[in-house]
Amino acid sequence: MTLDEVRADADPATFPSCVLDARTAFDFFGAGFLGRNSAVHMERAGMRVSVIDADDHRLDEMAPLYPKTWKFVHGDAFEIARLIADSGAKADLVVLDPWTNGVPRVLEALPLFARLSSRWLVFGLTAAQGDPPDLDALLSTVDAPLSPVAIVRRSDHVGGVWWGVATVL
Ligand SMILES: C[S@@+](CC[C@H](N)C(=O)[O-])C[C@H]1O[C@@H](n2cnc3c(N)ncnc32)[C@H](O)[C@@H]1O
Repeated sequence: MTLDEVRADADPATFPSCVLDARTAFDFFGAGFLGRNSAVHMERAGMRVSVIDADDHRLDEMAPLYPKTWKFVHGDAFEIARLIADSGAKADLVVLDPWTNGVPRVLEALPLFARLSSRWLVFGLTAAQGDPPDLDALLSTVDAPLSPVAIVRRSDHVGGVWWGVATVL
């Protein structure tokens, strides 16, 4: 697979354009489709990205396709998020793209992931959170300084998959 092949499969309309002004990003759960859902859009926008995923084989496949300045970190997203939060490091954008059955756990951990972002937080949602999900209601239950910005529909998979977009206040 080449980066052009990943790009050809990645419709820019499926990723929130408002976050593309970010210069740095943490791309959690970033490797499953070699970046088709997330990394490739950040690469197009010229961001410097750290991709974090539990699948080391996928990360090894992905790394040669992307800029040499990018980091590819193997491990559990929640553990690595805690380590980054403890270090005080932040990026302009944090993207969270778990498998659909992993969405509830990620939503519970939004306060942790929000600590890693200086501006944007983008996270996957499914029809289990509403069709379409009600971002204002969802964030009103999260104990973190997040302001709702947009819901972007990504695909019809399992009844609908969206990106929730928030800013960190
Ligand atoms: C929907 S795929 C991500 C697709 C990816 N964003 C892309 O654009 O190619 C979900 C990813 O979550 C990863 N994953 C699942 N549980 C994880 C965990 N606890 N920590 C880190 N990665 C995990 C899987 O290995 C898989 O690559």
